[in-house]
Amino acid sequence: MSKIRAAITGIYGYIPEDILTNKALETLVDTNDEWIKARTGIEERHILRDPEKATSYMATEAVQGLLKKTGLSPLDIDLLICASVTPDYFFPDTGTLICYNIGAKNAFAYDIQAACSGFLFSATTGAKFIESGAYKNVIVVGADKMSSITDYTDRSTCILFGDAAGAILLQPNDQGFGLQDSWMRVDGVGAEFLHMKGGGSKNPPTHETVDKKWHYLFQDGKPVFKAAVKGMAEAVNEILKRNNLSPDDIRFVVPHQANLRIIQAVADYLKFPMERVMVNIQKYGNTTSATIPLCLWEWEDQLKPGDKVILTSFGGGYTWGASLWTWAY
Ligand code: UT7
Repeated sequence: MSKIRAAITGIYGYIPEDILTNKALETLVDTNDEWIKARTGIEERHILRDPEKATSYMATEAVQGLLKKTGLSPLDIDLLICASVTPDYFFPDTGTLICYNIGAKNAFAYDIQAACSGFLFSATTGAKFIESGAYKNVIVVGADKMSSITDYTDRSTCILFGDAAGAILLQPNDQGFGLQDSWMRVDGVGAEFLHMKGGGSKNPPTHETVDKKWHYLFQDGKPVFKAAVKGMAEAVNEILKRNNLSPDDIRFVVPHQANLRIIQAVADYLKFPMERVMVNIQKYGNTTSATIPLCLWEWEDQLKPGDKVILTSFGGGYTWGASLWTWAY
């Protein structure tokens, strides 16, 4: 019997309507459109303005769109994994809220928090439940309301982030399509450079933590930039080597969208032409867990069965890695 692999059989995304342009940011902090475009590649990002709506809202929209598109009933979902650094609550987990919203009464769910690598790690994790033969329909959704942890007085971070959600459906495939390999790593040395200090058990919320702005994301961009280039290049290289592939064999590399210069540096290092690297950071900024599924969603029409695609990410932690997929539809 041939091996059961987990194939991506559908993708959908949700992008909030409101746009925050570079020009609008010029009115909030001492920055300008030229600097932001030149240093990051970002032109605008979308923000979920409604204070009543949170990450689960965007994720629910993405998953409902995915169900409609694939014709799957919510009752058929076995497992839903939500990747996020901006869950609605510490608990209950966002995945459970999404299942409740869509009526996935036969599913179990949980969240994975691995910063910008959350989607990559979750997709591999979800795939293992399919490969084991235990489950048939696994949804992985990456969703982040980054605006909820962004300090709009800090010009070094507020220009970077946006809100969005993206979801994939994983189903068994015995024709060789689907997840082929993944390589993932973490290194806590990165905690110093990219973190949110307040709100957890180390620094529970107090007036002081609010005054110190510890409930916002903090980033020291330079070391993260360097580590991101090295990490994603290393991960993709590792995947190529282990699978006896060259860049020519890969239809698309799908990198986490944190900075266009990081993406270009990784492509340069790998000698991979930018025409086959998915980039949409100019429209959405860094949406953390949603960047990779949003790219796949946008490029879906250009993918065909048998295409080899490498996903790669780098994020807070540090967390990083890459995975190799053979496209199934
Ligand atoms: O998704 C998780 C992983 N995250 C990342 O991979 C992000 C990694 N880091 C980066 O993308 C970049 O480091 C940033 C985009 C955050 C910053 O770009 P940079 O080229 O590393 O700039 P910098 O921090 O070295 O700053 C250069 C100058 C500084 O001025 P001085 O000290 O040279 O006078 C900054 O104060 O640019 C200044 N600057 C700005 N100027 C205008 C910083 N932010 C801004 C801004 N507008 N928004």
